[in-house]
Amino acid sequence: MSDRKPFIAGNWKMNNTIAESEELIQALLPLVGAVEDVDIVVAPPFLALQAIVDSARGSAVGVYAQNMAEKDAGACTGEVSGPMLAEIDVHGVILGHSERRQLFGETDRLLQLKVPKALEFGLIPILCVGETEEERERGDTERKLRHQVQEGLEKVPLERLHEVVVAYEPIWAIGTGLTATPEQAQDAVAFVRALVQGFDKEAGNRVRVLYGGSMKAENAADLLAQPDIDGGLIGGASLDAESFAAIVEAAR
Ligand code: G3P
Repeated sequence: MSDRKPFIAGNWKMNNTIAESEELIQALLPLVGAVEDVDIVVAPPFLALQAIVDSARGSAVGVYAQNMAEKDAGACTGEVSGPMLAEIDVHGVILGHSERRQLFGETDRLLQLKVPKALEFGLIPILCVGETEEERERGDTERKLRHQVQEGLEKVPLERLHEVVVAYEPIWAIGTGLTATPEQAQDAVAFVRALVQGFDKEAGNRVRVLYGGSMKAENAADLLAQPDIDGGLIGGASLDAESFAAIVEAAR
């Protein structure tokens, strides 16, 4: 068992109006709001952030955004900046999710700017990386992960590198019910950790590396039992308070 604090994050994606978000957090807080031995995070849609920050204030639940612009302000129609998120006491931000890379053309070069920018505004970044089914079948998983991790962390000040959270999310497991085996997940997460150690050994030992991709209450314990897996980035199962709480319990 490592001395890294477990980290369980719920990525609500484009689900839940403000009212539905409030309903979900009110169902979740009694279940996990006082848990101190796991870092627990929810990531609502932008419009619900203020309400959920206010509802979760004083509890053990952190509130993260699902994206953030690489610029502080300017002609970026539709974007939300770090200062705007910091102003409403958001604690962190998911960056480079595969859906943003695939659907909105986010590049590793863009993530190279976003990750340090989040830290600049006091937001903990969760950098998402992961391969497609074709890349895995071609034996290109490590090449893909190496590129994404090295590019994404390239401009992070070494003294802050340990603050970054990295989420390994095999694209073929996201939303498919096709979870990676604990061995597959461990191998990839250990490789990601070794890449971070390549920047700075101590930082690589300290960073939390998560698994994401159809983690559920039923399979969480086996995944979280792996030596290098420090937690999970949860999609579908985070939309149900009981399921998400069961995954948090499995991380304790
Ligand atoms: O960011 C987490 C998400 O991509 C995983 O989704 O539904 O497979 O848990 P899901």
